[in-house]
Amino acid sequence: MKDNVLHIQGVSVEQLATACQTPLYIYDENKITEKLSRFHELFQSDTFKTEVLYASKAFSCKAMVELVAQYGLSLDVVSGGELYTAKQAGFPMERVYFHGNNKSYDEIMMALDYGVGTIIVDNAMECDMLVKAVKRSGRSIKTMLRVNPGVEAHTHKYIVTAHLDSKFGISITKKKEIAAMIHTLTSVAEITFLGYHSHIGSQIFDKQAYVAEIEKLMQFTKEMQTEYDIHISALNLGGGFAALYTNADHPIPLQDVCHTILDTCKKENAKQQLNIEKIMIEPGRSIVAEAGSTLYRVGYQKQTEHKKYIFVDGGMSDNIRPALYQAEYACDIANRMQEDKTETVTIAGKCCESGDILIENAKLPKVSQNDLLIIYTTGAYGYSMASNYNKLGRPAVVFVKDGHARVVIKKESYENMLDLECNEVINV
Ligand code: LLP
Repeated sequence: MKDNVLHIQGVSVEQLATACQTPLYIYDENKITEKLSRFHELFQSDTFKTEVLYASKAFSCKAMVELVAQYGLSLDVVSGGELYTAKQAGFPMERVYFHGNNKSYDEIMMALDYGVGTIIVDNAMECDMLVKAVKRSGRSIKTMLRVNPGVEAHTHKYIVTAHLDSKFGISITKKKEIAAMIHTLTSVAEITFLGYHSHIGSQIFDKQAYVAEIEKLMQFTKEMQTEYDIHISALNLGGGFAALYTNADHPIPLQDVCHTILDTCKKENAKQQLNIEKIMIEPGRSIVAEAGSTLYRVGYQKQTEHKKYIFVDGGMSDNIRPALYQAEYACDIANRMQEDKTETVTIAGKCCESGDILIENAKLPKVSQNDLLIIYTTGAYGYSMASNYNKLGRPAVVFVKDGHARVVIKKESYENMLDLECNEVINV
């Protein structure tokens, strides 16, 4: 911080605002790469092979995917678009895992064509579709099956239910159907079946949730082995590790969660007398959330009966999370970093929607028009869930590192937004 102005990686956010306009997503590249290398280092075991997949739905662009490749992690993609981004970034396709509950035939063909390493099969109909696609393409593919262990963890609590109506995966109570799906897959020479995948939720604070997930999955694996002679070599436990949004959050330290997962896997693998060789996890949020912030320019202010509103030049179009999940964030006035926080205000966006409130009860110094407001921890599910609502262009994304800044995604212009509009006659 110099002259009361926030600097990120030695770069003044005031200068970034002038150079790139606001709103602006700013990523501290060193924070991203620290997380990538921490996961890589910490998720190691002497019992298992391990693999960490970055869940690119949290934030996907070529610059991000390049960092993931550089730091030796693998990649989880969930659509043709994320897959295309990975391909364009030159990501090694063998290390790509393709997820999703409704992959189209074209997307599956695209994955086979690109030489994607592994497809995570979600349901019985997809299983049949994959077999058809593999037979047509003649390509080989590894597969995992998404199962639903009935452990659901969303925030501070987790619950175990006997049966869960999730749209993802197949419940582990449906062993016969699961065995039939695996049989369908393994009856094709080009398809290798590795094992099970599950993902129990997001922004998880309780490491016991992972313990419960592993116990359930290992017990299920044992049952499938005994009852159906189905042996697996790998388990993918999904992501969900929490990030720190406000001081009320206490994420599980990475070291702790990695250790708990691998230790529990080791114990359960021995207890159930299994021969699992490889354990995978796929964090998204915990890699990028805290590295990203959004910078806004303050416009007008307004005092109502009970509230003082501060309006900013973005809103739910660049961060839908407060409106969608009542997510909470911390903020500062980036050009008044040393001033006392004397006001309690509501930060509202400029979208035509009463719910377009970014932060309630924010404590700030006295705010003036043209001040810069920074909201922290917007690096995950911010840009990736942004929209053009009210025809607001998506903001630019910059990466800053060691005193240098680079634009990795340009601001969407009015022209960009109209680019796809046309008046083409369809011959029907
Ligand atoms: N693996 C699978 C199969 C997933 O479905 C997800 C997230 C992840 C990994 C990564 O989870 P993470 O480590 O990022 O929690 N839009 C919501 C979050 C949706 C998460 C969907 N799946 C939000 O903004 O909070």
